[in-house]
Amino acid sequence: MRIHELAKELGVDSKELIEKLKKLNFPVKSHMSSVDEETAEVIKAEFTELKEKEIEENVIEVDFPITVKDLAVKLGKKPSELLADLIKRGKFYTINQNLNEEAAGAIAYQYQVNLKKKPLKEEVILKEETKEVKGRAPIVTFMGHIDHGKTSLLDYIRKSKITEKEAGGITQHIGAYQVHLDKGKITFLDTPGHETFTAMRARGANATDIVVLVVAADEGVKPQTVEAIDHARAAKVPIIVAINKMDKANADPDMVKQQLSKHDLAPEDWGGKTTAVGVSAVTGKGVDELLELILLQSDIMELKADYGRAALGIVVEARLSKGKGPLVTVLIQEGKLDVGDWCVCGLFYGKVRAMLDDHGRPINTVLPAYPAEILGLNGVPNPGDQIFVVPDEKSAKEIVERRREEAAKKKLVTPAHLKLEDLYQKVKEENLKQLKIILKADVGGTLEAVEAALGKIPSQEVELVITHKGVGAINSSDVLLAEVTDSIVVGFKVSIDAQTRELSRKKGIELRIYQIVYELIDDIKAALEGMLTPQIRRVFMGRARVKTVFKLSRFGIIAGCMVEKGKITRAAICQVMRGNEIVHEGKITSLKRFKEDVREVAQGYECGIGTGFDGIQEDDVIDVFSEEVIARKLK
Ligand code: GTP
Ligand code: MG
Repeated sequence: MRIHELAKELGVDSKELIEKLKKLNFPVKSHMSSVDEETAEVIKAEFTELKEKEIEENVIEVDFPITVKDLAVKLGKKPSELLADLIKRGKFYTINQNLNEEAAGAIAYQYQVNLKKKPLKEEVILKEETKEVKGRAPIVTFMGHIDHGKTSLLDYIRKSKITEKEAGGITQHIGAYQVHLDKGKITFLDTPGHETFTAMRARGANATDIVVLVVAADEGVKPQTVEAIDHARAAKVPIIVAINKMDKANADPDMVKQQLSKHDLAPEDWGGKTTAVGVSAVTGKGVDELLELILLQSDIMELKADYGRAALGIVVEARLSKGKGPLVTVLIQEGKLDVGDWCVCGLFYGKVRAMLDDHGRPINTVLPAYPAEILGLNGVPNPGDQIFVVPDEKSAKEIVERRREEAAKKKLVTPAHLKLEDLYQKVKEENLKQLKIILKADVGGTLEAVEAALGKIPSQEVELVITHKGVGAINSSDVLLAEVTDSIVVGFKVSIDAQTRELSRKKGIELRIYQIVYELIDDIKAALEGMLTPQIRRVFMGRARVKTVFKLSRFGIIAGCMVEKGKITRAAICQVMRGNEIVHEGKITSLKRFKEDVREVAQGYECGIGTGFDGIQEDDVIDVFSEEVIARKLK
């Protein structure tokens, strides 16, 4: 085979092929030289590999979406040239058309360019090299059922371990604090419950190293204990069990241990691996042992932080103080935060003016795993938001401005979480291997029955995983857990309140409620086979009559209304009726009582409703609906 023939087959000109062959140690004289079949095959394979490697290395960074015009410039072509080239390949674009990452990447590849997304400024900052890695204190969160004694235990530890050393004791309320023991330090995060824990995770802040599961010895494992276990598991955080209220006469630690065994948390003396310790927040019995076990666990984990890099951490709590402005409690995870540092936090930024430690004392530096309250941000961020140090004010402004633009764009789209209807597609296209569900049922018996029936669905490709199961109504904790684990919430004969439904809609989490077990099983089966069709029904929620129409500069046209029936809720689906005619259909865009944004307005109250419909008139009627998935009828 001659070289020029080979070149033709490979889609390059002979000159290029000869050049490349030199690099591959296959010197040939000219395009008329010939090689035998076997060599030709080797050359083909090696040439293709080299070519791919070259493209891979030929990186150009851009922002997406990118217009055809800008892409041409990046590729070193005239826009008209690029357009003509694309037409030759049967692709018709206009010069100002926006291309997404995929489309632009495919075009660039044709020109031997590996198009990459330009990293954001903060990505560059956050990626900083490791500098000074050293050990740090563990960060511990207490979780458990209501009233099982989380706060009391933390209080006991605080009093005995901090106040005894620090005259004056705790002066500040702070959502995070550090305890110093002879054998080491522990940082405690005082979050109000597993919902906050998971909500923080949903923002990407996995701030806990160890979870202490508090179970009262007189009451044992309760629904929220189980939720806490599953939330901690989903976060892949080790669990230490504190069996609390051991001082009570009816304390029954054996019952608790037996119950724990059912949840794969069998304690060591029950043949399991879980560390469990009996404690009392009243007498303090067992608390020292608990602290030692925490330190032991943290030793095993060899927790480390980079003390040398630019600081980063997470917001534990934030509020507005009248005199001081935004007060933000942060937990530093890496690096040292100093007074005078410029930092970005969520959608805000600022220069750290002052910092207080967990005793309310002014400090100049905060180290990893230490909490601090900082002053100087220009707004109040959300718990779980990340805070990080940037080189100067200019970078801080730039990052925050871009984030605000993104946030404004994001408001318009619901996040894309897994829907049962898209399951099949995802399995095929994205190699999805698991369908995760959160299963709720009315009583324990039905829960087991549904679980057993689900277990019998034959599926080779996709494994059915139950992220959490429980008895009772679907609640916001289920929705948040679904969000971080990308699960679908499946309910059997259970209810759901409007607030949770709204949360799920906002987060784009699919909820499915069934009354008949076969329908539930059929739908999951159908989803796995790509045969599921959505069945949605609108349910009337309420009616409001327009009394007056006015314009607000920031919100556009607002209808001043009286709620005549049911209730109006924010973001509900609405229909504007004029007589018997539907003049507009869409979603409620804003709902206000006086100047306050509200979640819902009940019958008999006045409110301001934004519908995004500028033609709205006095005496129009606004009907609002919720959407419900209907269970299928048995055929
Ligand atoms: P939530 O924050 O509402 O979820 O509760 P919690 O888990 O923080 O419980 P909390 O510490 O508020 O305690 C609830 C009740 O149990 C209080 O009345 C405590 O005094 C009591 N309690 C807590 N620990 C113990 C204990 O070890 N022994 C006894 N006898 N009572 C306790
Ligand atoms: Mg509490």
